[in-house]
Amino acid sequence: MFNVHSRIVDTGMYVPDKILTNDDLEKMVDTSDEWIYSRTGIKERRISSFATSVLGLKAVNDLLTKIDKNPLDIDLIVFCTISPDNNTPSCSCLVQKHIGAKNATAFDINAACTGFIYGLVLADSLIKTGKYKNAIVIGSEVLSKLINWKDRNTCVLFGDGAGAVFIEATSDINTGIIDTYTRSIGEKSDSLISRSIPVSNFMVENTEEIYPYIEMDGREVFKFAVSSIVESIEKLLKDNKLSINDIKCIVPHQANIRIIEAAAQKLKISVEKFFTNLHKYGNTSAASIPIALDEVNRSGNCKKGDLVILVGFGGGLTYGSILVRW
Ligand code: COA
Repeated sequence: MFNVHSRIVDTGMYVPDKILTNDDLEKMVDTSDEWIYSRTGIKERRISSFATSVLGLKAVNDLLTKIDKNPLDIDLIVFCTISPDNNTPSCSCLVQKHIGAKNATAFDINAACTGFIYGLVLADSLIKTGKYKNAIVIGSEVLSKLINWKDRNTCVLFGDGAGAVFIEATSDINTGIIDTYTRSIGEKSDSLISRSIPVSNFMVENTEEIYPYIEMDGREVFKFAVSSIVESIEKLLKDNKLSINDIKCIVPHQANIRIIEAAAQKLKISVEKFFTNLHKYGNTSAASIPIALDEVNRSGNCKKGDLVILVGFGGGLTYGSILVRW
């Protein structure tokens, strides 16, 4: 079983119908379409009235229409999110219930905007043990519930959506996940925060004011994002004796076009090598890479045998990359 790794069989996605444009935001906070677009590249984002598990389920339903798989034969469901419906049950168990994947092991993970990268690395590693033959990996977020809609520093950046991939074991070395790289920088955890319910001592009245929304040191995160993309890509290239010219397409976390442009400049490549759709959806955290991957997949631009790099970065701080042969 040790020669087994996983290949991406197919992808799915779902974004809510409701579109919130930069013009809409101009009416809510002191901002402008010109400021948002020139600083971020974002034009609009989607807003959900469904819970995170439901968005994930809709992406999985889209995926299941494309693959010939009996839900009873699904081994693993890994749900990546920072905006779960509940502490328990997990979003993954709710998806499992709705698709009838009665034989699956289902759990959620949180690595913020790197969530999907960590989730796919984890699922691939579990498949490599030989204990599991396949997995659905989902990235889904309802970030709109974690946003202070009066804070112009953050409310213009984020959106809601979900993407999902189905991976399965293969021993064909000409396809699938070739290599992965992950890192975390806990000492910089303060640069991007969304707090949960605090510890309260039942003997003492808790007077602490809780700010439950996303807070961020934008400039610090920007610098980290650029350097982590460059490091994550260069590491995979070096370890696999590849040149950047061998890579057909890079699918990055979709946070800000200026982050991607700066990374492209440092890597001395055209920004065109990076697939981007952030103008339509904003930053959807753990959902951004699987949504982008589904759009790349459907565009038909990547052909069998092409090399693709997925690269993510986010709160924690966390970052990482995956080298895939399409
Ligand atoms: N509209 C208008 N003005 C705004 C604004 C908005 N939506 N948000 C902030 N500003 C203001 C600031 O208050 C500041 O005003 P001041 O100079 O009077 O204090 C000014 O614009 C410039 O702010 P600055 O922080 O220098 O802008 P920036 O060029 O760094 O862009 C971000 C801000 C947030 C877009 C940028 O730092 C960024 O993208 N960081 C990474 C964020 C990210 O991707 N996080 C998720 C990672 S997973």
